[in-house]
Amino acid sequence: MALLFSSKSDDVDRWRDMLARELPDLDFRQWTPALDDIGDPAEIEYVLAWGPRPGAFKDLPNLKCIFSLGAGVDHLIGRDLPAGVPVVRLMDPGLTRGMSEYVLYWVLHHHRRFGDYAQGAKEHCWQQYPQADTRTRRIGIMGLGVLGLDAAQKLAALEFDVAGWSRTPKTLDGITPFDGEAGLKDFLARTEILVCLLPLTPETAGIINSETLGQLPDGAVVINAARGGHVVDDDMIKAIDDGPVSAAVLDVFHSEPLPADHPFWSHPKITVTPHVASLTVPETAALVVVENIRRIRNGQPPEPIVDPDSGY
Ligand code: NAP
Ligand code: GLV
Repeated sequence: MALLFSSKSDDVDRWRDMLARELPDLDFRQWTPALDDIGDPAEIEYVLAWGPRPGAFKDLPNLKCIFSLGAGVDHLIGRDLPAGVPVVRLMDPGLTRGMSEYVLYWVLHHHRRFGDYAQGAKEHCWQQYPQADTRTRRIGIMGLGVLGLDAAQKLAALEFDVAGWSRTPKTLDGITPFDGEAGLKDFLARTEILVCLLPLTPETAGIINSETLGQLPDGAVVINAARGGHVVDDDMIKAIDDGPVSAAVLDVFHSEPLPADHPFWSHPKITVTPHVASLTVPETAALVVVENIRRIRNGQPPEPIVDPDSGY
């Protein structure tokens, strides 16, 4: 019985240690382009991957499950995976906490104008701004899944006026729900701080574009912690330069690392972070994978299984 770790991750030794501690009978094998010896393919029952290997795990006759090393599965879905093998995304409470920290940090930063105060301090300028009311600050979270819902609930607990947008309708305590294409316009029109936590699918690719940005109120802030493919980069810059957007915090990009000459780096109203909104931490994430392997061994399905039709 073996697990194939298919990633160049620097964390490979931590994953190996965690899995060996929890599942000592599971043989850990790593695949990288430079290390292309996976032993007997028939022994591999599980793949833990960030991005598929060439051939996309088709030559593994006893494969039971493909685990994503992250919450997102856009690096796997639609890439010629073996039919009938479930793909499981990472649903790790540690990852969720990390994402909500990122979202709360940047929402509070813009809500309380801490960027302006930091600039004032640099210039030795004693300038106070009116304090905005939390209860009338309208936050909009695109994507009310594991990550979006946790961030929305934590913002609502701070008494922000929170709305969320999802594909299917929802009823939620303390969060105003919008759904589908029909709900998007009204959702955007009331959103002063927009947070994107959508999965990247054919439906959501390029969703943050001149049309949607143009529906935000004047001065809106955009925080994208989902995927770079959600944003049309030129439209984002135009919406900041010409309005209505006043600032953006971007963690994810079409090409990563973000090329050194990309205009996002030097734009004074854009904050770039290097895909760190929430990192996969082996010490918490491995326990989730282990629990799923135990479920499979007991004849139960792992969770959450990605729906190949919706792509998330
Ligand atoms: P999830 O649980 O699958 O939730 C996805 C949410 O998006 C659901 O609420 C879903 O609606 C909604 N959605 C999907 N397609 C939609 C559409 N076409 N229109 C409207 N809503 C749509 O995903 P998650 O675990 O919260 O993760 C979200 C994403 O965060 C990941 O896919 C990944 O790309 C990103 N991420 C980034 C980082 C980072 O460090 N930057 C870290 C982790 C994850 P329903 O509820 O109706 O299904
Ligand atoms: C990170 O981007 C993830 O999908 O977990």
